[in-house]
Amino acid sequence: AHLIWMSDEPLLPGRSYMLKIGAKTVNATVTDIKHKINVNTFEHMAGKTLDLNEIAFCNLSLSSDVAFDPYEANRTTGSFILIDRMTNQTVGAGMVWFALRRATNIHWQALDIDRKARADKMGQQPAVLWFTGLSGSGKSTIASLVEKRLHAEGRHTYTLDGDNVRHGLNRDLGFTDADRVENIRRVGEVAKLMSDAGLITLVSFISPFRSERQMARDLMGEGEFIEVFVDTPIEECKKRDPKGLYTKAEAGEIKNFTGIDSPYEAPENPEIRIHNVGRPAEEVADEIVAYLRARGFLSVLGMDGDGI
Ligand code: ADX
Repeated sequence: AHLIWMSDEPLLPGRSYMLKIGAKTVNATVTDIKHKINVNTFEHMAGKTLDLNEIAFCNLSLSSDVAFDPYEANRTTGSFILIDRMTNQTVGAGMVWFALRRATNIHWQALDIDRKARADKMGQQPAVLWFTGLSGSGKSTIASLVEKRLHAEGRHTYTLDGDNVRHGLNRDLGFTDADRVENIRRVGEVAKLMSDAGLITLVSFISPFRSERQMARDLMGEGEFIEVFVDTPIEECKKRDPKGLYTKAEAGEIKNFTGIDSPYEAPENPEIRIHNVGRPAEEVADEIVAYLRARGFLSVLGMDGDGI
């Protein structure tokens, strides 16, 4: 489709928007900007994001099928708008050219052993504990202690940590807004696979944008996503500065540093909010484990008789 961008906030591929075509509204992401178009010369230009009034030829991926005609054949059924999920504002308008063959040629493979079978075998209920907060807020320290406690209780766990995943799967990504969106999109998908596999998955990423945390939440089953906001004020993070990165960022040696020259959008309604100043990390970890226990995540299925 051709897309014209109408918002001051740039289009970020991989971010989930609402797409309204005819009477139907579905979730959609721009998966690929093929090229931008210079409106004066019609030249094609490369681009990773779209700014206000820019036009591009893009691939989009929708959460479900929609009826459409090519814009050439019918201007009404061939056009759509994109709406921001957080602000409900119209942010883009598009003209459809054609559907990609892959949209109908790739089917969902139903597997006989499903997530319930896997989780039952492990005797546990999968969950995704999603730690978000500034660099140096203590996410990884707390996540690591929580995992130790769960492991000691015989739970099957895995931790996805920003610094580690960025060495492998996401080594091609930096810290621009567009790259952070893609970073979190991939990690959300991996966390979903891990919870499908039956694991209690701990995710420790700054994940600065509400929109992508919401996207990750939407991927998981009802009640399975537990957002843990490690709420440490930036002054405290700067004081701790465990990796010396704040000093570098303030000296202008690192660009796009969260909290300095790149935004952090604090969660509004996290399941767990940790005021992480002046408290031992062990105590915080205990609080999180207690939360899981109180909500039945740690009842042993089929073993203690009163599993969930
Ligand atoms: S996220 O914003 O995309 O979620 P992620 O959690 O993967 O970030 O990576 C953050 C880690 O990368 C930080 O803990 C820090 O060690 C390192 N880092 C390097 N450059 C930056 C930067 N510009 N902003 C934030 N963190 C950075």
